[in-house]
Amino acid sequence: MEAAEKIFILYTSLSGNTEETAHIIADEVEGKVVDIVRDLPGLNRALASVRAGEVGLLFLGTYTWGDGVLPLQFRKLLRSVLIEEKEAYLPYMPLTAVFGTGDTIFPRFCRAVDETVYHLQKHGVTVFQETLKIEQSPYGLGQEARVRAFARNALQGASIDEGKRAILSVTGI
Ligand SMILES: Cc1cc2nc3c(=O)[nH]c(=O)nc-3n(C[C@H](O)[C@H](O)[C@H](O)COP(=O)(O)O)c2cc1C
Repeated sequence: MEAAEKIFILYTSLSGNTEETAHIIADEVEGKVVDIVRDLPGLNRALASVRAGEVGLLFLGTYTWGDGVLPLQFRKLLRSVLIEEKEAYLPYMPLTAVFGTGDTIFPRFCRAVDETVYHLQKHGVTVFQETLKIEQSPYGLGQEARVRAFARNALQGASIDEGKRAILSVTGI
């Protein structure tokens, strides 16, 4: 990544699984972790960076609630970025990688991840092709390596993406 170098990991977590996952990703890509519910100043700083075009890679992480539902605060964040303030955000949205934790005991395992991808793509955000769905804690079931691989792959994808964007802007497309 060249011009837009910042990496943010925005997440919401109730019992800590998604939070743990976010911190592993941050460690792998040297990104800044922000709890979108408990760290409003951090969220505001991250969003200001997105609007300023400074962010080269964004991770969005959430647990799944109810019967496959997105947590309210996470839904609000998506609505604000993708709909209510879309003029401010959409031109600057970087490659976005989506991850989540869930529990396979529920029929709609990590459905919030898929719903997030759906909303992002619907509004034209470039979403990293891989999603990450973790069963409860990333430290269980040997899943940490998967988290780290996902983070590294997204970082690599962001560099390629930047390159492509640069070429497109030079050719005026
Ligand atoms: C009331 C309730 C409903 C849940 N519904 C789902 C679900 O539909 N699909 C799923 O994959 N996980 C579901 N879960 C499991 C959580 O998403 C999972 O435990 C997750 O790791 C919690 O993340 P957190 O520790 O970051 O809060 C549910 C948990 C609770 C308590």
